[in-house]
Amino acid sequence: MSMQYFGSCPAGEVHELTISNGRGLEAKVLSLGATLRSLLVTDESGRRRDVVLGYDSAEEYFFGEAYFGATVGRFCNRIAAPGFELDGKCFVLPPNEGKNQLHGGPFGFSRQIWTPLPAGEDRAVFRLISPDGDMGFPGNLMVQVTYRLTEESLVIEYEAETDAPTVLNLTNHSYFNLSGHESGSVGGHRLKLTADFFTPTDEQMIPTGEIRPVSGSVLDLRTEKTVGELISAPELKTTQGLDHNFVLSGSDAVPAAWLKAPDGTLSAEVYTDRPAIQVYTAGFLGNVPGKNGAVYADHQGICLETQGFPDAVHHPNFPSPVLRAGEVWRSRTEYRFRGASRVRRRKAVMIRI
Ligand code: GLA
Repeated sequence: MSMQYFGSCPAGEVHELTISNGRGLEAKVLSLGATLRSLLVTDESGRRRDVVLGYDSAEEYFFGEAYFGATVGRFCNRIAAPGFELDGKCFVLPPNEGKNQLHGGPFGFSRQIWTPLPAGEDRAVFRLISPDGDMGFPGNLMVQVTYRLTEESLVIEYEAETDAPTVLNLTNHSYFNLSGHESGSVGGHRLKLTADFFTPTDEQMIPTGEIRPVSGSVLDLRTEKTVGELISAPELKTTQGLDHNFVLSGSDAVPAAWLKAPDGTLSAEVYTDRPAIQVYTAGFLGNVPGKNGAVYADHQGICLETQGFPDAVHHPNFPSPVLRAGEVWRSRTEYRFRGASRVRRRKAVMIRI
């Protein structure tokens, strides 16, 4: 792991850590928001590409609205106004999307400076102490995020502890483009999800509380579809494609999501122990200046945000987001990258056996 100064922003000085698996997988991660800024993946033809969207400066990360690559918390996705009640106490949350709170509030974890901890070549570890009352949430919270590279995966592990009852929902908000971050729309990518249900929302994107089967709808992604089909689906017009929370029906041994590049040279499988995944096809990016002079248009990336259910604080039928003193909150998500020919070769070996 090597570390260098990246820049400064109103949150403070930002450093960038570079980690590598020594075989072509390399990631750059910022102390601001414990943010994944780049992820270099080598396909089977030897072509190296950066498969996540990002910015070039600390200010853009701090002021930007896209949450590129960020660790989002304390509570990713939405909590309906004015806040929530826990053990008979009311907690009012500062809003940042209309009257509701999105992605942990105006200065959530993605806009705070995390402390890098000593770690090996293949990993970066960050710690954040979030004080009682931070963005309205109770309890002093210690949270740690580890980015680790294995032979073909990026693994993100989370750990958190509190000294008083609180709620927690962490995710990583990377926008993937398996053709490379600078290469236009992800419309030609193919997507498959292990999800039998989704959580419908109202016009403010707040879950209604219903857990509805995907079968018979455009959201049935149990057989793969192109992202382009979803972007142009009339039923998904208000969200300009997907911005939906899917309930995962597999286990952490089955990919929650598969994404394939249009030319078939690279695929990503997402494994997680979280109960849900928000899939966002970036319908509202709107020509954001990105890394190395790239300009990101709508639909130039896809977010595969593994998480608990949005607004779970208001829906007793959703998995509980409560964390209590003495408990350790742990979670793991793995993004496994494969060149298509490697997948074919494995199948061939299996057939010979
Ligand atoms: C999430 C939300 C989207 C949008 C993006 C960030 O995916 O669900 O509505 O807020 O984050 O721009």
